[in-house]
Amino acid sequence: MPRLYQLIRPALWRLPAETAHALTLRAFEGGAGWFFGGPVSREPDPPILAQCLWGVNFPNPVGLAAGYDKDARVPDAMRRLGFGFVEVGTVTPRPQPGNPKPRLFRLEEDRAVINRMGFNSGGLDAVAERLARRVRSGIVGVNLGKNRDTEDTAADYAEGISRTARLADYLVVNVSSPNTPGLRDLQRSTLLGPLLQRLMDVREATGCRVPLLVKIAPDLTSEECRDIAQVALDTGIDGLIVSNTTVARPPELVSRHAHQAGGLSGPPLAGASTALLADIYRLTQRRLPLIGVGGIANAADAYAKIRAGASLVQLYTALLYAGPDLIGQIKSGLVDLLRRDGFGSIAEAVGSAHDTEPAQRFTLA
Ligand SMILES: Cc1cc2nc3c(=O)[nH]c(=O)nc-3n(C[C@H](O)[C@H](O)[C@H](O)COP(=O)(O)O)c2cc1C
Repeated sequence: MPRLYQLIRPALWRLPAETAHALTLRAFEGGAGWFFGGPVSREPDPPILAQCLWGVNFPNPVGLAAGYDKDARVPDAMRRLGFGFVEVGTVTPRPQPGNPKPRLFRLEEDRAVINRMGFNSGGLDAVAERLARRVRSGIVGVNLGKNRDTEDTAADYAEGISRTARLADYLVVNVSSPNTPGLRDLQRSTLLGPLLQRLMDVREATGCRVPLLVKIAPDLTSEECRDIAQVALDTGIDGLIVSNTTVARPPELVSRHAHQAGGLSGPPLAGASTALLADIYRLTQRRLPLIGVGGIANAADAYAKIRAGASLVQLYTALLYAGPDLIGQIKSGLVDLLRRDGFGSIAEAVGSAHDTEPAQRFTLA
């Protein structure tokens, strides 16, 4: 029997992409998420999927990536769909409208999306208030950005950390969205090192050692990749998220929207993003937990990222195409793949591709 989302999707997809997104968000907010998600599974996750990172117990490694719930409206409804953790944001300190519409495009034939949302955000006041109001259960990360017109970039991230450190299970410094001018330049080591040093101090001053992660772009040169790994180790940040959307346009794209400006997500991003993840895993010498994101559409994609070095994975675009049933399918597929390969836990499988594949694209000097 076709699942509910597959029946609804044609109607949803007749709407402009951003309208459809707003509609699903409102449905989840109003408690009608079952309409899109089907019945909520109350089955506990199999213990083989559980993992403890940064002192936080993740029931399963499959998370919702940043960008769906930018203003922290529905983190708990999303978690109830079966995600092991949910990342809200990107949130900017002050509210801002983002780029002019249309700014979100479905590349149907490629099962991909291009977005140039430009950090549309309700701002930190609204997000902090919602997070403070919720009864905490389940793992919620907050992805932090800067306002487009800010004069002091570091101050924006610092404010995000101070305001949310006690409200989140982890924080993300997003320096990799392609739709805010100059943002990705922050990934250059001369800027990234001092920025992260300052943000680690800000985190310290909160008195709350919430894990601080950095989310990077897939479009890095080998030198930038090496520098980021070194900065990550030197500054002592807690992890990296690899990766954000890409500004590249792989030649295999066939959709009429492929030329739209913005960040591409979905399966066409998977190869580059998993290759970068593997490089970062080697360059950080297996010392940092990594979250792998970019193009995951099934259990095999998620498993490839785990074997490349990801302790956790996230997805967004595939959810738009397959609906929430995908989460359960990925989890049960992961259990099968782990057992097939003789692993007793996710942690055992992390980075296992490196034990059999000698290829080494970059090494630290
Ligand atoms: C519509 C849309 C909005 C996004 N907004 C954000 C964002 O605000 N912050 C962020 O760090 N990533 C954002 N992303 C990137 C995703 O978190 C993820 O890194 C990327 O889409 C790759 O994963 P996927 O192929 O599973 O979608 C967005 C992606 C999409 C499709």
